[in-house]
Amino acid sequence: MTKQFESIANDLLDNSFSVSDGLFDPALIEALKHEALTQFQEGEFRKASIGKGLEKQRITELRSDQVKWLDSEKATEAQAAYWTFVSSLRVYLSEFFRIHLERTELHLAVYPKGSFYTKHIDQFQGYGNRVFSIILYLNTHWIKGDGGELRVYDKESIIDIEPKGNRLVVFRSDLVEHEVLPTVKPRVSVTGWMRRDKLVF
Ligand code: OGA
Ligand code: NI
Repeated sequence: MTKQFESIANDLLDNSFSVSDGLFDPALIEALKHEALTQFQEGEFRKASIGKGLEKQRITELRSDQVKWLDSEKATEAQAAYWTFVSSLRVYLSEFFRIHLERTELHLAVYPKGSFYTKHIDQFQGYGNRVFSIILYLNTHWIKGDGGELRVYDKESIIDIEPKGNRLVVFRSDLVEHEVLPTVKPRVSVTGWMRRDKLVF
C-alpha cells in the first residue's frame, strides 16, 4: 500500500484532495455495503446532525443522510479490515505532513433516495480537530443518473466525483468546500475524519 499512500499524500499536497479507485478487494466492499444496508434496515442508523455542542442542529434542509458511528472494538471482520487500512494511512499521512493525527472517527452513511448534503466544510467553526476527511463509497452498481455525486469546489473549478463502489476520496477538512448532490438511488459509504485530538470519554 505504500505506493498508494504516497500518491494520496502527494495529491493532498497538490490539490487538497485525492481520489483513488480499486484499492480494496471487491468482496470487502460488498461485505461492508451488505452490513451497512442490513443495519440500516434494522433501524440502527440515526438522522445526521450538524455542528457541535450548542450549535448542534438537525436540519433536514441542510442534510438528509442517516449515519451509524463505528466502534473499532466492535467491528465486523470487514470493518476491522477497513479500520486497519485507515490507521496505516493515518500514520503515513502524519509522518508525511509532520503533523499529529491522533485517531480516526468513522461512520456508515446511508443517503436514502432524494437525500443530499448542501455545501459545507467538515471542520466545525472554532474547532481545528478534523484534519482529513476520508470517504469510501460502497455503491457497487452506481451508474450515471443515480445521482449523489460529491461536488468539490476546487480553487476555480467545480468537480463532480461519482460515488462509485471501491472509490476512496480523501481531502483537507479545513479547506475543501463540498456538497452531496441529491441521490436518486440509496447511496452508501463509510465516512471518516482523521483528527488531532484524543477521545475524551
Ligand atoms: C460529510 C460529507 C460526502 C460524501 O459527511 O461531511 O460531506 O460524499 N460527505 O458522502
Ligand atoms: Ni462533508
